Amino acid sequence: MVKDFPDNMPQEESPEDQVDARADFILGRLGFSWEDLRGKKILDIGAGSAEFGAAARKKGIEVVSLDRKLIDDEGVAPYQKEGYVQGSGDHLPFADESFDIVVSHASIPLHAAFDRKDVSRFIEEIRRVLKKGGECRFGPVGVGGAFFPVGDPEERASGVSNASWEEDTVDERVRKTSLKTTALLRELVPDLKNSTDDLLAQTNNFYSFVK
Ligand SMILES: C[S@@+](CC[C@H](N)C(=O)[O-])C[C@H]1O[C@@H](n2cnc3c(N)ncnc32)[C@H](O)[C@@H]1O
Repeated sequence: MVKDFPDNMPQEESPEDQVDARADFILGRLGFSWEDLRGKKILDIGAGSAEFGAAARKKGIEVVSLDRKLIDDEGVAPYQKEGYVQGSGDHLPFADESFDIVVSHASIPLHAAFDRKDVSRFIEEIRRVLKKGGECRFGPVGVGGAFFPVGDPEERASGVSNASWEEDTVDERVRKTSLKTTALLRELVPDLKNSTDDLLAQTNNFYSFVK
């Protein structure tokens, strides 16, 4: 059974431990160690409650956390709001070549199976704000399939993907969503690499490209 939202939210006692645990989980998913990130300027797109940025900053690592939603006041510590920017991944409010690394965990590429135009715009924007030689890592791309059916707009209109989605197990939905999304992303990003063929892996399960 795939473990993602909300199952794998850490159950640690203190709110700060929960933030750290979520950040460590994201870090492991994206195949980084904190040391890899030291001295780099990092953008986290679709940062949610900004656990990743908050934990990184405690370690002296510079992360800008961007999300289209304003960060929730409830249940979020003030330090999670530092370095938080409200904005959308398709119009990044940053100058060209501003970041060494862009990460996006369980966020925008999930839309790939839904809206090709949106996703190409996200990729363009990420390439624009990355420095030359900078890297983007994102993933997983299939978890959205656990919650809603995917497919081309025509397929969805005809009900084809919805029909099979109802009958699939959660893991099958996630696998199928990952495969569809990956195929689309490969058209948009010819040099896209994936870290594993295990689409349900909890660590080192990411896609990447270098500018
Ligand atoms: C499933 S949450 C993941 C949050 C965080 N990355 C994590 O792993 O804990 C997806 C986040 O992506 C954000 N998001 C979706 N579309 C976005 C967009 N176009 N631009 C910026 N953020 C977006 C949502 O608001 C949400 O906070």
